[in-house]
Amino acid sequence: MKLIAGNSNRPLAEAISAYLNIPLTQSNIKRFSDNEIFVEIMENIRGKDTFFIQSTSYPSNDNLMELLIAIDALRRGSARRITAVIPYFGYARQDRKTGGRTPISAKLVANLITAAGVDRVLTMELHAGQIQGFFDIPVDNLIVAPVFVPQIQEKFNGDKLCIVSPDVGGVVRARALAKRLSADLAIIDKRREKAGVSEVMNVIGEVEGKVCILVDDIVDSGGTLCNAAVALKSNGAKEVHAYVVHGVLSGSAASLISDSPMKTLVVTDTIAATEDVKAVTNINQLSVASLMGEAIRRTFEERSISALFR
Ligand code: R5P
Repeated sequence: MKLIAGNSNRPLAEAISAYLNIPLTQSNIKRFSDNEIFVEIMENIRGKDTFFIQSTSYPSNDNLMELLIAIDALRRGSARRITAVIPYFGYARQDRKTGGRTPISAKLVANLITAAGVDRVLTMELHAGQIQGFFDIPVDNLIVAPVFVPQIQEKFNGDKLCIVSPDVGGVVRARALAKRLSADLAIIDKRREKAGVSEVMNVIGEVEGKVCILVDDIVDSGGTLCNAAVALKSNGAKEVHAYVVHGVLSGSAASLISDSPMKTLVVTDTIAATEDVKAVTNINQLSVASLMGEAIRRTFEERSISALFR
């Protein structure tokens, strides 16, 4: 097995390498003066089972291009099998036409990755599970529950818990987590009654006096979570916390969150934290390295991955 890291999330790649006790393969990923990307794998990979680790997070286009070029280098280097390990799959939110003459960019990205020559994809908490169907090669879409559940159980032991989906699209994920935690479930229904009038946040479910945990796949601007936290507090929630898989945290998200009624936000390390994010004391990171590392090991050994989630 060979593990190769792209530049998007070196700390996670190193943690996966430590979990597997397999060093990262030496590679040289550099830019030419016109910013073109060049990849050279510095060790023999002929006949090897190769795993290239790269989140297509900010700067998404550069990181995606680096992934495609690395796959090409691995294929031309005669790797036996290439798995693209994409902890955060960028462009996933563009998974359907939102209007006339708009793209389905998630499908285009899937086509590009496939055309570059990967044999399989290993990713985590896709924005929509159906994105697996955009590929005609095997895709393992890991779920975050084994990372979030033990910490929530330990931290909120004895509290009356309510898992909350901040929008209707996230209900399946929130319900699955609520079931594992034997907690209540609530849903925020966002409505804009008229164009130009601010959103009304209807809380569906009983949250009064409960510790509410918002669960989502992505926190980007932070608007969804912060508005949901305000709605929960005004409906009588005792405390509001959030557990989100992918901390995109763009623009002024970090300061928005630190000023919100949300007590803590936990994100995973599928996206490397920026210095701004690290500076916010109520944003903490949980690592998915052992879960991803175990999934890589099982792929290599041709063992079940779904067994990890039973
Ligand atoms: C949307 O469907 C996603 O699940 C997230 O709720 C959304 O991307 C969060 O974005 P933001 O933090 O910008 O509100």
